[in-house]
Amino acid sequence: MEYTAKDSINRERMPRHVAIIMDGNGRWAKQHGLVRMLGHRQGVETVHNITEAAAELGIKYLTLYAFSTENWNRPQQEVDALMELLVDTIAKETDTLMKNNVRLLTIGDLSRLPKKAEEKFRGCMAQTAGNTGLKLVIALSYSARWEIIRAVKQMSNEVKEGKLRIEDINEETVSEHLTTAGIPDPDLLIRTSGELRISNFLLWQSAYSELYFTPCLWPDFTVEEFYKALLDYQSRERRFGKTSEQLLSDQKKY
Ligand code: IPE
Ligand code: IPE
Ligand code: MG
Repeated sequence: MEYTAKDSINRERMPRHVAIIMDGNGRWAKQHGLVRMLGHRQGVETVHNITEAAAELGIKYLTLYAFSTENWNRPQQEVDALMELLVDTIAKETDTLMKNNVRLLTIGDLSRLPKKAEEKFRGCMAQTAGNTGLKLVIALSYSARWEIIRAVKQMSNEVKEGKLRIEDINEETVSEHLTTAGIPDPDLLIRTSGELRISNFLLWQSAYSELYFTPCLWPDFTVEEFYKALLDYQSRERRFGKTSEQLLSDQKKY
């Protein structure tokens, strides 16, 4: 049988939460002499495959950056087509989500989406609400700075109304006011397409995420590439500010 990186993955050391900046659809289309939208269409195939693979591996949370606040500044024609693609994709993929016991969640400003897209997402979230497997979190009209400003405003209001004391504000308080409240921070953050930046994604939550950058364009990001990223993650030592020696002696204690 052919070698697959999957066989080397240690199921005991899986990241609980993987977040992905899905980038490179436009360049993939260009490489193939196609219009940008066909790159996005191909990208949906990757979303389907990676979601299935993550569910199968028992990963608990998969967050996908699908549309940023800044993406509203793209040509109107591309924005409209992307919104239509989102609607089509949800309609087509809901059965697969149900079959794989996947629960859909979203983060971002859904109210900025066209009504139809917002309704589709809300409908799918309601339909999959009882599923107990992978939680698939789609970031839509999301940006970390938007989210942080929103949290600061909410906390300020609560202080004004006497519901929150300034001296009680800690890391947990801030986390609970972000759109990812209740979702653990990503252990692994992947970006495809060779760009070495975060582009306003999960700035607070990725404070201690392991970063993985691959030149692979999103439509070319196969399940095998995903396994490689997981293997790379498993080869790292997460120290959270401590020393290697401390980690070793901590391990011995358990
Ligand atoms: C990522 O692909 C998808 C979205 C941001 C919606 P891009 O559309 O950014 O593709 P490139 O970066 O132009 O290749
Ligand atoms: C980041 O990709 C946003 C998403 C993947 C949705 P972009 O292609 O928009 O990022 P920049 O503009 O190159 O940083
Ligand atoms: Mg891009």
